[in-house]
Amino acid sequence: MENEQKAIYIGLLGMGTVGSGVIEVLNKNAEDISKRVGAPIKLKKILVRDKRKTRANVDTALLTDNFDDIINDSDISIIIEVIGGIKPAKDYIVRALNAGKSVVTANKDVMSTSGKEIFCAASENNVDIHFEASVGGGIPIIMPLKECLTANVITEVMGIVNGTTNYMLTKMTEDGADYNAVLKEAQKKGYAEANPAADVDGLDAARKAAILASLAFNTRIGFDDVSVEGITKISPTDIGYARELGYVIKLIAVGKNINGRIDVRVNPALLPTSHPLASVNGVYNAIFVRGNAIGEAMFYGPGAGSLPTASAVVADVITTARNILRGSLGKNYCTCYDNKPLCPVEDTKSSYYVRLLVDDEPGVLGTIATTFGESGVNLKSVMQTTREIKNHAEIVVITHLVEHRKILCAAEALKNLPVINVLKNIIRVENEENLNG
Ligand code: NAP
Ligand code: HSE
Repeated sequence: MENEQKAIYIGLLGMGTVGSGVIEVLNKNAEDISKRVGAPIKLKKILVRDKRKTRANVDTALLTDNFDDIINDSDISIIIEVIGGIKPAKDYIVRALNAGKSVVTANKDVMSTSGKEIFCAASENNVDIHFEASVGGGIPIIMPLKECLTANVITEVMGIVNGTTNYMLTKMTEDGADYNAVLKEAQKKGYAEANPAADVDGLDAARKAAILASLAFNTRIGFDDVSVEGITKISPTDIGYARELGYVIKLIAVGKNINGRIDVRVNPALLPTSHPLASVNGVYNAIFVRGNAIGEAMFYGPGAGSLPTASAVVADVITTARNILRGSLGKNYCTCYDNKPLCPVEDTKSSYYVRLLVDDEPGVLGTIATTFGESGVNLKSVMQTTREIKNHAEIVVITHLVEHRKILCAAEALKNLPVINVLKNIIRVENEENLNG
């Protein structure tokens, strides 16, 4: 009875993949959650777009399609936003905070574009804002960066942060699966964004990269600051060559502090099979952090999916509920106290994989090597194979570490050579030369 009086009421915005998982976790773990918080957590209302949809495991009396029913409910002290996208999610988050309600969100779109505004609204209204599920699905990484690793100066965060593309690349690598078929599978499993272009074009990972870099380097990095390349240009041929050379291709999010400037980007990369991120497969994500006290640490787990993501969301709800009971709401301040400049992508350094379709003639290799050399690009290895097209050969080059601007310059010069038929692909290589920053 005493517990009943102290119940903490929640309004849930969205009952799709993540929202349904949140309801399931709150229900099946209710007893333990109640003991951990010191009060039961009760779902009071659920906002959906379409109330007529058939939904499993929910009391339909809780459903509403009107946000006002939730914002005006004075019993509700925590709002969970799992609608996704900017509109109307951002407006709902800000209105909830301004109404004195704490917010838990999985929304990287909003946090990577309006983080400052959201934190200001939370702090002005003395309420909490938590967003653990916005990066890495079920993996704890926001709290470790905001709390557990704060003794360190962090120099690098690098991760596989998009479950959909990692699932796709894994299936393409291990089973030779077709790109479109495997994308459909990822959508069916509930991993993909409402518009899966956000996954395959690298935008989802870029949003997460912005959040990670902001937390790691204590400086505000927005989605627009991230240089982005997706996986659409990765072909089975590239995957095959990478394998022959001892690499796997992964979509990685990178944040590096390079002498005070922040390099933040998302791109496909060849990783040596011995690299810890190379064996992160399927929907699993991992975030590798380098700090000047801890050395290297890696956070690994399911990066998407209903229950894993709900695990992070509900943990944030528990943190908020405890803060309500302790009277310590509104203390999880913004940690972006610095204003570090960005490192332009042209200044960043990598090794590169370059694949060319060329005329199979004497002297071609020499011409190509000279062209790279004239652009200041030093070659590490060259592989030539004769492919199905008559009188043509394919050349795969791995370069030594070089500035991005020089590889772009070499690419332009190569495209103008009469012996080059097509410059098929250029992909960064994270090998031993650049793994240490
Ligand atoms: P989803 O399956 O598409 O569900 C979205 C929910 O929001 C649905 O219940 C939908 O209502 C409701 N909704 C959409 N527009 C609305 C509107 N204008 N007004 C009211 N309700 C609206 O999305 P999700 O996969 O659960 O993702 C939710 C959030 O979690 C996103 O920010 C996503 O990036 C993030 N996230 C997802 C995952 C994952 O594995 N899926 C992992 C980590 C983070 P109806 O049911 O009526 O259509
Ligand atoms: N679409 C996202 C992914 C969901 O595939 O990782 C988790 O944020």
